Amino acid sequence: MAKKMWAGRFEKATDEAVNDFNSSLPFDCRMYKQDIEGSVAHSQMLAKQGIISQEDADKIREGLLSIMEDIDTGKLTFDSDAEDIHMFIEEELTNRIGDAGKRLHTGRSRNDQVALDQRLYAIDEAYEIMSLVGELRDTLIDIAKDNLETYMPGYTHLQRAQPITFAHYLSAYIEMFGRDMSRLEEAISRTNISPLGSGALAGTTYPLDRESVADELGMDGVTKNSLDGVADRDWAIEISSFASILMMHLSRLSEEIILYSSQEFKFIELDDAYSTGSSMMPQKKNPDVAELTRGKTGRVYGDLISLLVIMKGLPLTYNKDMQEVQEALFDVIDTLKGVLVPFTGMIKTMKIRKDNMEAAALGGFTNATDLADYLVRKGIPFRSTHEISGKLVHYCIENNTSLLDLKLEEFKKFSDLIEEDVYDAISLKTCVEKRLVTGGPSPEAMKEYLNGL
Ligand code: ARG
Repeated sequence: MAKKMWAGRFEKATDEAVNDFNSSLPFDCRMYKQDIEGSVAHSQMLAKQGIISQEDADKIREGLLSIMEDIDTGKLTFDSDAEDIHMFIEEELTNRIGDAGKRLHTGRSRNDQVALDQRLYAIDEAYEIMSLVGELRDTLIDIAKDNLETYMPGYTHLQRAQPITFAHYLSAYIEMFGRDMSRLEEAISRTNISPLGSGALAGTTYPLDRESVADELGMDGVTKNSLDGVADRDWAIEISSFASILMMHLSRLSEEIILYSSQEFKFIELDDAYSTGSSMMPQKKNPDVAELTRGKTGRVYGDLISLLVIMKGLPLTYNKDMQEVQEALFDVIDTLKGVLVPFTGMIKTMKIRKDNMEAAALGGFTNATDLADYLVRKGIPFRSTHEISGKLVHYCIENNTSLLDLKLEEFKKFSDLIEEDVYDAISLKTCVEKRLVTGGPSPEAMKEYLNGL
């Protein structure tokens, strides 16, 4: 066991079980790039401020970059008893370049270092996630543009309610994912702030140029209070909140894909490449991607709750509890990335059964409101037309037919104001076209909306 960097005031070595319990290297090793980038920027700034020599800073940079390269190529592995990634890299650096390596940590603590690394890591991943959500949203936009006049029933209580179009349905999710993206953008703006210079908690006596380090790292500013800089992880909670809301949206869409691809609905058919079979039942084609997405939503919610609970009772400033933030945040990131790629593929390749959607819209009395509205235009108050239309629906159910299949004489038995023009007034096309209001399903309004995105 290598001597601990902090062993100065200790008389005994750490117990083996404590070492294992304490170590974060197995999971924080994934931040090695960010750790090295942060250290290069910090050490160059130290030299510019005259705190260490430029010669040492350059040696440090070279050493750190060689470590990065060796990790990238697999020459250097994390097979080490170092306590965490920060210690691992610093130890390795000092092994490689000697005393200059020991100057790297001047004016810095692992408390501000780990806060920086996690923010940098989260931002890199957040941009990737942003582009994956953007790709999903663009896919939905493309499909919507092709389905401006694909009629389907809209539902409330999962009962057929009023006719809409598939484009209109998809646009609801286009809106939701759009808001998710703006939530992530906001979260990024608060994450992309450098805590470096906060030291262990009370800043440092060295004349650090915090802003230039932040700038060098592509960050938008520095934290304004050193206690806050090392003690809060609200940005990780914000990213996980964004992720939970996104997963909620993905899960609802998944639920509908599962329903709509069932034999009972047959609105869509998933591509073979995005479906799975059964080991026993030869006929099965299962929507596993959608089901797993729905399932993993619970997992992401769990991560968010973990983060909130880890942080809720901690006295300022740093407490080791906060090491636990990392795995929850990493799991959020891994889960989102894992979900989004196959999910978008599934959406891109699914077949849309326009015929079945339209048949369902025709079959479910989704035009009953429009029939009531038609009679309102003939001068009858809505409450009364609602009843007439309801009675006609009842009549159709009794006679196993639909409103559009009734003869004019049959209509007239319920109201003699009904004329030949009723058939056009309650056709799916009219029902949808008339809903021109902003946010409504009319192909014209929808086209304008989609083109404006
Ligand atoms: N591995 C630690 C973490 O993730 C780094 C910070 C350690 N700081 C300390 N004061 N022990 O939180």
